Amino acid sequence: MSILVTGGAGFIGSNFVLEWMATHDEPLVNLDKLTYAGNRDNLISVQDDPRYRFVRGDIGDRSLLVRLLREHQPRAVVHFAAESHVDRSIIAPDAFMQTNVMGTFGLLEAVQEYWEGMNRDLRDGFRFLHVSTDEVFGSLKENDPEFDEYSPYRPNSPYAASKAASDHLVRAYHHTYGLPTVTSNCSNNYGPYQFPEKLIPLVIHRARSGQLIPVYGDGLQIRDWLHVSDHCAALRRMLAVGEPGAVYAVGGSAQRTNVQVVEALCALLGEARPGVDYFSLVRTVKDRPGHDRRYAVNASRTMDLLGWAPQETFASGLRRTMQWYLDNNEWVSRVTTGAYREWMDRQYPASLV
Ligand code: NAD
Ligand code: DAU
Repeated sequence: MSILVTGGAGFIGSNFVLEWMATHDEPLVNLDKLTYAGNRDNLISVQDDPRYRFVRGDIGDRSLLVRLLREHQPRAVVHFAAESHVDRSIIAPDAFMQTNVMGTFGLLEAVQEYWEGMNRDLRDGFRFLHVSTDEVFGSLKENDPEFDEYSPYRPNSPYAASKAASDHLVRAYHHTYGLPTVTSNCSNNYGPYQFPEKLIPLVIHRARSGQLIPVYGDGLQIRDWLHVSDHCAALRRMLAVGEPGAVYAVGGSAQRTNVQVVEALCALLGEARPGVDYFSLVRTVKDRPGHDRRYAVNASRTMDLLGWAPQETFASGLRRTMQWYLDNNEWVSRVTTGAYREWMDRQYPASLV
């Protein structure tokens, strides 16, 4: 048997693929469209492995999906492929609806048909693992309890709304057709291979090149950070023991304001590369429209059911992540040319760029 991964050339997907190939004998097929966020360089270390197959393609391409499912007969699909950046969804939401909603719908249709055709033993063991986000639950106030599996859906950005729609589709395909789905709603990830449009790699990249660091609004918005390797470990447990129809809330129990994150990064960079006052680079910029104030996840049920717990503290994970970006400057240089510069010009004030 094998597993089919979508979006495996992106940030979380490539971490998942690399860890899978290092720890499992089972072949893996990676279907990725290679949008601006997908990068085959991430996977150079496995590209010649006979157990690994990369296919460039769109999850919206139904005939490609049917062909891949027939050819590789996967026992599971792990669905990462998505447009994932909130700021881009505010400026250009179309691609989010196309990939996150219609793409997930097309994938479910193809997988459903494939699953119906499997023999009974294999059907029971099959899983469609949908990788979703805590953003579908909206925004918490300062003293609200954390999100969990029972939180109501209140998506606020076009990105969150598109992911919420995909969660509902996944739920419906389980409820109506019996497709053995598992959904993960995870908090903010950080770690190696994250595209430097997201807060943590953006701050590292800009600070170390002496560029100003943009903080939206008052910078007191709160996110709950989880190292990507801990998220991938939770996903592997879901594949192994997740019950059909199950939903798991995943988080790092590491709530930090954006200012705290930025200051921690400036301090770490100051240790690694003394001589520059990185704190002096921080600038407040216009807030994100509709900016969610606080995300936080109560993962205790997930920890009990999956026998999983984060291994990385925020302090250790951030230090490791900083070191990865310092050691992989070439990777950063390659992904911050062309289209990246256009995005920065569009998103940030001229005084910053
Ligand atoms: P990413 O933007 O880094 O990567 C997305 C990948 O999907 C890219 O490789 C891209 O080329 C591919 N892709 C996009 N559209 C596609 C299409 N139509 N067909 C095939 N491939 C396509 O995203 P990420 O941060 O790695 O997130 C992965 C998944 O995890 C997403 O579904 C996201 O919603 C979810 N998630 C992310 C976080 C986070 O903090 N990054 C947290 C929770 C959940
Ligand atoms: O909660 C999970 C979500 O986390 C995922 O579903 C998304 O795919 C992922 O992008 C992430 O969304 P956020 O919007 O929380 O992540 P981002 O890194 O874009 O921003 C984190 C916080 O930092 C947010 O409050 C906005 C703020 N920010 C971000 C950028 C890029 C700034 O203050 N300045 C910036 O330049």
